[in-house]
Amino acid sequence: MKKVGKGILLVVFLCIAALVIGGCSNQGTTTSGTTPESPAADTTKTGAKKDIVVGFSQIGAESDWRRAETKSIRDEAKARGIDLKFVDAQQKKENQIKAIKTFIAQKVDAIILAPVVETGWEPVLKEAKRAKIPVILVDRGVDVADDSLYATLIASDFVEEGRMAGEWLAKATDGSCKIVELQGTPEAAPAIDRKKGFEEIIKKYPGMKIIKSQTGDFSRINGKAVMEAFIKSEGKNIQAVYAHNDDMAIGAIQALEAAGMKPGKDVFVVSIDGVKAAFQAMVDGKLNATVECNPLLGPLAFDAVEKLVNGESVPKKIVVEDKIFTQDVAKNVIKDRKY
Ligand code: AHR
Repeated sequence: MKKVGKGILLVVFLCIAALVIGGCSNQGTTTSGTTPESPAADTTKTGAKKDIVVGFSQIGAESDWRRAETKSIRDEAKARGIDLKFVDAQQKKENQIKAIKTFIAQKVDAIILAPVVETGWEPVLKEAKRAKIPVILVDRGVDVADDSLYATLIASDFVEEGRMAGEWLAKATDGSCKIVELQGTPEAAPAIDRKKGFEEIIKKYPGMKIIKSQTGDFSRINGKAVMEAFIKSEGKNIQAVYAHNDDMAIGAIQALEAAGMKPGKDVFVVSIDGVKAAFQAMVDGKLNATVECNPLLGPLAFDAVEKLVNGESVPKKIVVEDKIFTQDVAKNVIKDRKY
């Protein structure tokens, strides 16, 4: 009896072993994507580039511009069949660092980063470099001693945008006006550079003075609140508003109107971005000019991703061209605006 029992046990053990080995080999087939039912095989059927996985750490959704950039990157990933892992950092650098670390752990093929501020990126970029994951910076730059920590920066020239706004205002006011400035997010590249470019121009005109300057964090609601405070302290002294983006300019327009002032007429308003709402404000005569800053960076970003993944090189900086739009052309071009 004992011998028979041992025999049965051996047979049962052998059967279980056979099942486990069979199960494991099936699992291997599925993940390698050679069976038609596997998700990887489905991706191939739709023509998707199943091998490319990209992590995108976005700043947030503070402005129309930012939402247009997110859409462009998402749409382009979809069009190219690239698997995009998207994380919204809610304006926090710490959240971006956390997201990048997760992308590294997930062994993505490339990371797209729109850095909220310029500094503090070295340690995490070094981690990405050690893991041999190229980092593509979009829209904002970083301040690092070693530029091999990122593959490329695709962005506008923010200093030049500030210069364009300053030149327009100098011309419109014959070089004489009292200005309030709504700055972007503190320590962010566009806030630093747009201020720098604007000041570079107005210092040539002794009659142009910034009488108040404060951050409105690139958002409409904060732009309005800061403008209300400016109106309270300076009132009719304010002759011009320079806003580092359209959303803050639109907030400022609302505050001026609520105070009984006429934006675009009593007070010049000039800003940066070129979003559709700014074109509408120009058509309505409330915004005088906006400098375009193109957010449709998806195609350029994924051209760079695909080249880097294929071992090709990309330029260290890809500069997106901008230009200024004024009220006289707004009506004709508003219908063609893509964001
Ligand atoms: O970095 C680009 C700036 O960020 C845009 O001008 C602004 O609208 C956005 O939030």
